[in-house]
Amino acid sequence: MKDKTLHMKFAVRTFLAKKIQFVRNLNYRLRGYDVHPSVIFERKLHLDRLYPRGIHIKENCLIASGVTILCHDHCKRVNNQPLLIDTYIGRNCFIAVGATILPGVKIGDEVIVGAGAVVTKEVPANCIVAGNPAKIIREKIRMNDAAELMNWSQEKGWF
Ligand SMILES: CC(C)(COP(=O)(O)OP(=O)(O)OC[C@H]1O[C@@H](n2cnc3c(N)ncnc32)[C@H](O)[C@@H]1OP(=O)(O)O)[C@@H](O)C(=O)NCCC(=O)NCCS
Repeated sequence: MKDKTLHMKFAVRTFLAKKIQFVRNLNYRLRGYDVHPSVIFERKLHLDRLYPRGIHIKENCLIASGVTILCHDHCKRVNNQPLLIDTYIGRNCFIAVGATILPGVKIGDEVIVGAGAVVTKEVPANCIVAGNPAKIIREKIRMNDAAELMNWSQEKGWF
C-alpha cells in the first residue's frame, strides 16, 4: 500500500516535471544555448551566461540540480576579452547533482558525471567519472535514451 502511494506520487510529480522541463528547455534554446529539445534540465543550474552558443548538449541528457557548465574563462584573456571556448556533452549522459564542467571540456556519449565532480578534461564515451578533479571510476557502461544505466540492476549489480 505504502509502495502504491509512493508510486502514484512519483507518477504525478513526473507528469508535472515533464511540463516544467519542456518550458525550461525551450527557454534555454531561445537564449541561444545549443541544446537538443530532449534534454532534461533540473533546477538551480548555472549555465554560462556570457557565451550561451558555446554550450552544446546532445539528445537525451539529464542535467541534475545545481550543475554548473562553463564555456568562458575570466582569467585567461584574448585581445583583452575573456577566453571563449566551447563545451560539449554527448548524447544519453547523466550529469549528477552539483557537478561542475569546466570551459572547453568534451564529454562523450553515454557518460555519467558523479555528484559534485569537477570535470577538467575530455571524458571518453561509456564511462563514469567522479571526484575533483574528475577521474574515471568505471568503464564500459551503457546508457539508454532516458539517461538510465542499462548494465546495472539492484538484483544483479553491474553486468
Ligand atoms: C557515480 C555514481 C553513479 C556511482 O557510480 P558507481 O560506479 O556505482 O560507484 P561506486 O559507488 O561503486 O563507487 C566507486 C568508487 O567511486 C567513488 N565515488 C562514487 N561516486 C562518487 C562521487 N560522486 N564523488 C566522488 N567519488 C565517488 C566511491 O567512493 C568509490 O571509491 P573507492 O573505490 O575508493 O571505494 C553515484 O555515486 C552518483 O554520483 N550518483 C548520482 C546521484 C545523484 O545525483 N542523484 C540525483 C538524481 S537527479
